Amino acid sequence: MTLDQKYSTGVVWQDFQHKELMDLFIKLKKARADKTDRDAFRFTIAFLSMYINHHFKLEEEYMDLYYYPDREDHKKEHRSYIKTLKSFRANHKTYSEEAMDELMTKIKEWILNHILGDDKKLGAHILSAEKAQRLGKNEK
Ligand SMILES: [Fe+2]
Ligand SMILES: [Fe+2]
Repeated sequence: MTLDQKYSTGVVWQDFQHKELMDLFIKLKKARADKTDRDAFRFTIAFLSMYINHHFKLEEEYMDLYYYPDREDHKKEHRSYIKTLKSFRANHKTYSEEAMDELMTKIKEWILNHILGDDKKLGAHILSAEKAQRLGKNEK
């Protein structure tokens, strides 16, 4: 399955990582509907903690590399997701249906607000910077 075009930034590694998050969300939705989400709770939190670190770091490396003009705002958004996850972890040490629903809402908001907004803008900047770089190389 490929990433829905609506969510695609066109940057291969970014799309791949965003798809990981969206696949997880789809699995959680199914598990929640089947009432088998209890086991997925701890995994989801552990996954998100790891994912956020790795994914945000990589996006931020590219922002710096290509002098992305909105990088400060975008990094701020990342910091705020890290904070949100931290406080969620602190407030929900164990599974409850309410906690799982809250977590899923947060992931959904992240996909809709951040990936469809800031990340698509960043992706467009990366693509054009890489294109400019290729053209520059061809001229030499
Ligand atoms: Fe981002
Ligand atoms: Fe992202």
